[in-house]
Amino acid sequence: MIKKLKILNVVGARPNFMKVAPLMREYAKHADRIEATLLHTGQHYDDAMSTIFFTQLEMPAPHVNLGVGSGSHAEQTAKIMIGFEEVLLREKPDVIVVVGDVNSTMACTLVASKLLIPIAHVEAGLRSFDRTMPEEINRLVTDALADILLTTSPDADENLKREGVASEKIHFVGNTMIDTLLALRPQFNVAGMRSRFGLNTRPFAFVTLHRPSNVDVKEVFEGICHAFAEIQKLITLVWPLHPRTRNMLRTHGLDSLIDSLPNLKMSEPLSYLDSTSLMSGSTLVLTDSGGVQEETTVLGIPCLTLRENTERPITVEEGTNELIGNDPGIIISKTRNILDGNSKKGRLPKYWDGKAAQRIVNVLTSTLERPQ
Ligand code: UD1
Repeated sequence: MIKKLKILNVVGARPNFMKVAPLMREYAKHADRIEATLLHTGQHYDDAMSTIFFTQLEMPAPHVNLGVGSGSHAEQTAKIMIGFEEVLLREKPDVIVVVGDVNSTMACTLVASKLLIPIAHVEAGLRSFDRTMPEEINRLVTDALADILLTTSPDADENLKREGVASEKIHFVGNTMIDTLLALRPQFNVAGMRSRFGLNTRPFAFVTLHRPSNVDVKEVFEGICHAFAEIQKLITLVWPLHPRTRNMLRTHGLDSLIDSLPNLKMSEPLSYLDSTSLMSGSTLVLTDSGGVQEETTVLGIPCLTLRENTERPITVEEGTNELIGNDPGIIISKTRNILDGNSKKGRLPKYWDGKAAQRIVNVLTSTLERPQ
């Protein structure tokens, strides 16, 4: 008899949900061998940043919600650690699964490692080599402590080996965020989103922006807003605002400039299906998100990333992504270039095929299953 594998999965912030949803579905297929639970740290808590994703991704409600909310990095990390330690001591899982690179990922990894509970990290090995990004710190710490490192691309394997991680711990399994994208693609409703934003048949560009490096410093964010003011003369912009970005527009006094632009359509944060529908119907995407660089590569939509670096170089080498930084002149000229018909075509990276969760469950069971 094989003892059921007790897997505790951690989510905290918006980009985690689509990475864990396919795992939860896959565990359910092996309910005779796996007992899976879901813990939400509460790092993201708004309906639009959290609840709606559970509904659309058909995820079970979290078994535990730590309800930590927002705070400084230290505050948020510490609150998660205190809450998570209690849960681990009570639940005693065989393994925890953490995904991505948010504060919740790192905080829960630290706690589990001190309690000698094995850690599997989904999306391991990505590196921007830019330690000014909080996510890079989260990635480095998580991968230094994880026992099972599940990667989305061969460059991630190379990064981990260079850092001294033993090859037996590294498993190239593909991309669970793309599992979700491919599974939900039939439900995309581009026409519905066009009518909601009053776009008729007009071409439009989809915008997302939330990185501290783009929105926290007034001069930088102002420059980007001026670039958008020019670009909306060429193509309509659709821009759902992350709460951090909305706060920063107000703090820097940029909201009146943005509100005055006739061809820029802002909204509250959008649900998963609404944003992927819009992305798939757009002419191009302007973003600083990590996941969006991957999603546009799979959808074949040109993506201009307003960053100097990316932890996802495969989207540049094989996909439709281009790194352009945040200089206003360059943002405008690169957009013009795409509108003139010069966009990258790209191809699908290996194992971005909708089966990553299946591979992950195979790795977990073959590594951790024990006789009773
Ligand atoms: C976090 C992740 C980032 C990820 C992003 C996706 C870290 C270090 N950063 O950044 O990698 O790309 O999520 O969204 O973990 N807020 C709300 N409602 C919410 C959540 C946040 O209003 O439900 C506001 C609060 O003002 C908060 C701010 O957004 O202070 C930032 O939230 P936080 O969780 O600290 O980081 P994000 O910028 O969302």
